Amino acid sequence: MAQTTTTAGIGLAVIGCGAIGRIRSVLAREHPGVAWLGLCDIDADTLKQLAADTQADFATTDLAALLARPEVTAVIVATDEREHVDPILRAVEYGHPLFIEKPLATDPVESERVLAAIEAAGVDAVVGYTQRFRRRFLAVKQRLRDQQIGAVTSVVTRAFMNRMVPEATLRKVDDTTNLTPMVVSGTHSLDMCMWLLAGKTPVEVYARSTDVVLGDLGTKDGTFGVFTMDDGTILSMNINWALPAVWPGAVYGLEIGIVGSEGVIDIEDTHRDVILASEHGQPAGYNSRGFEAPATRHIDFLGSYPPGDLSDGLLWGPMREETMSWFSRLSKGVRTPHATAAEGHSNLLLTMAMDLSARRGTPVALPISPEELQSGLREDAP
Ligand SMILES: NC(=O)c1ccc[n+]([C@@H]2O[C@H](COP(=O)([O-])OP(=O)(O)OC[C@H]3O[C@@H](n4cnc5c(N)ncnc54)[C@H](O)[C@@H]3O)[C@@H](O)[C@H]2O)c1
Repeated sequence: MAQTTTTAGIGLAVIGCGAIGRIRSVLAREHPGVAWLGLCDIDADTLKQLAADTQADFATTDLAALLARPEVTAVIVATDEREHVDPILRAVEYGHPLFIEKPLATDPVESERVLAAIEAAGVDAVVGYTQRFRRRFLAVKQRLRDQQIGAVTSVVTRAFMNRMVPEATLRKVDDTTNLTPMVVSGTHSLDMCMWLLAGKTPVEVYARSTDVVLGDLGTKDGTFGVFTMDDGTILSMNINWALPAVWPGAVYGLEIGIVGSEGVIDIEDTHRDVILASEHGQPAGYNSRGFEAPATRHIDFLGSYPPGDLSDGLLWGPMREETMSWFSRLSKGVRTPHATAAEGHSNLLLTMAMDLSARRGTPVALPISPEELQSGLREDAP
């Protein structure tokens, strides 16, 4: 992979200075390969605070002004889910390598347009599927590469999430179209399964959803589905993000079971290995834009915040490895397991195919075009 930095080092532009843009910017300041840091956010206060905390070299509310800076050699897009398309397309025009938070877009046709622009420009664009950098999954991936369990025949995954996450995410927007549990959060566990099952292609999905708790918020509680792969492998993909706010898992808990013809791998990532019980209330796991926990949790599964764990003001865990290794990828051409833009696009279509199947109450044949998904999800709206 070509190195993509100047001799002076990486000139990093971060677009979106909220919870995740902040983490990545702070890490950039720690990395010796990052020589220059420029920030953009449409919210002046958020921008000012992060610029001060990171001693940024440049800060602006005008995206064009940041991208036009000659120091910029790489771009992170960390805006809200619905605000990725414009910054990506504008950054692609400069040909810089990109790190994009998931999803590529919240509309399947837009996502395809974004992917086409990235591929036409030949830029190295990766998508933030952070869990690929959690050690246990990297170890499992290697055992699968080494054929340790023979041919994989069936996979079951279950993601449980505290409802604070959809509440914090959805209160930020007026339009909740396609902000479903699969598109926003299930995409992480779907990506994990697709990555672990690399080489197999989904040919059909059948799914069901429920929205008793979060329907009024404009989303669903959960979606359970079964994918069939081209070689007959079955994948049961299940998420519910409506667990009560007092649930000890602050954000995400995952189980994945992978059964092969000569073995099995059973992954426990629910964080019940470190449990805190306290007379003091525990903080909300997801602190986007001042969201405050709606209920007091006295039991906490430590480690359930997917990016990692804060200690002495610094974040340790998968998002550190993901961000720092991206800088190594840029400056040294290091081979890394980041998801490509094509994988991000494929994941979006698969999550939406689950939503479409659940709406129709019938199986959906795969692959399905972005146009059919778009019209199907609109027309079939209840
Ligand atoms: N990889 C992970 O584990 C992980 C975890 C949480 C969130 N995410 C993703 O990261 C992204 C950001 O989430 P967040 O929690 O940081 O949200 P956030 O709301 O805390 O921050 C988003 C920021 O983007 C700014 N913004 C919005 N539109 C903009 C624009 N056009 N130009 C410049 N700035 C703009 C907002 O003002 C806000 O400060 C989302 O796509 C989310 O899905 C990833």
